Amino acid sequence: MKSLLSVDSLKLSEIQEIIDSTYSMYDVLSREIKKLPTLRGKVISLMFFEPSTRTRISFEIASKLLSADIVNFSPSGSSVEKGENLLDTANTILSLGADLIVVRHSREGVPWFIFERLKIPVVNAGDGKNEHPTQALLDLFTMMKHKSVKNLSEFRNVQVSIVGDILHSRVARSNIKLLSKIGARVILVSAYTTLYQNLPEGVKVKNFIDNDVLSSDFIIALRLQRERHGNAFYPSEREYFEFWGVKQDLVEKAKGLLIMHPGPMNMGVEIDQTVAYSENSLIFDQVKNGVAVRMAVLYYLLTKGRLD
Ligand code: CP
Repeated sequence: MKSLLSVDSLKLSEIQEIIDSTYSMYDVLSREIKKLPTLRGKVISLMFFEPSTRTRISFEIASKLLSADIVNFSPSGSSVEKGENLLDTANTILSLGADLIVVRHSREGVPWFIFERLKIPVVNAGDGKNEHPTQALLDLFTMMKHKSVKNLSEFRNVQVSIVGDILHSRVARSNIKLLSKIGARVILVSAYTTLYQNLPEGVKVKNFIDNDVLSSDFIIALRLQRERHGNAFYPSEREYFEFWGVKQDLVEKAKGLLIMHPGPMNMGVEIDQTVAYSENSLIFDQVKNGVAVRMAVLYYLLTKGRLD
């Protein structure tokens, strides 16, 4: 009975297996009939205590395409509004027949809390600013597909710059760990106030976008996580965009640089709308790849149970 809680516990062989499986699922998505019988009879509960569009819907589509049944839970309209606590809520979902829980919560550690008490497979769909492992896997798959590489060893030395509000970003934390683990070159670009310490060895830190950053293969722009800090970490959003926004003139300077963003985007804050919709943008490809990655992860957890 295993879970995907953090990138930390993923072995290189497991990452490679998920990528291989994602390539297979991606091929399934281009077929006329996309449905597979693989998870028939399994029940997956999507417990989202924080807003989500991409992650929740892609897990729902992934589950349905694998023939699993879905139970959607949101705190609004549930007994959480009458004061039911997290453990009782999760235990109720388990008693109602769930085989796996996908959980998003504003509190760090909630996926571990559920896994340790209920002994049911759990996928972390984002816990506070801590981790978002399936986002990192879909970002990696998107980059590998665009480089036309299938083996992790071929991705070594690819340079990825992650720009913006690193401190409050679970996407950044999971991506930094995953990219470092596979030997990619990682550059972080952020204000001093929106960085954190204890980064993996070899990760470079810069305060501004320079030519080194512009020579990257990919730039991942991060959403400014307003809900986690109340805009107290930089003088103004206009200034933030000026120094850390991914703008059209930067993309023009750097031929071939591909732009990513986990979404949702704050247009004109961390990214320019022209860039987001340009031919250099992989942003909507990331969304599409999210379905294939989540199919691969659910398949692994419910048929092989190798992750933890
Ligand atoms: N990238 C991401 O987690 O998006 P959602 O918040 O829409 O799920």
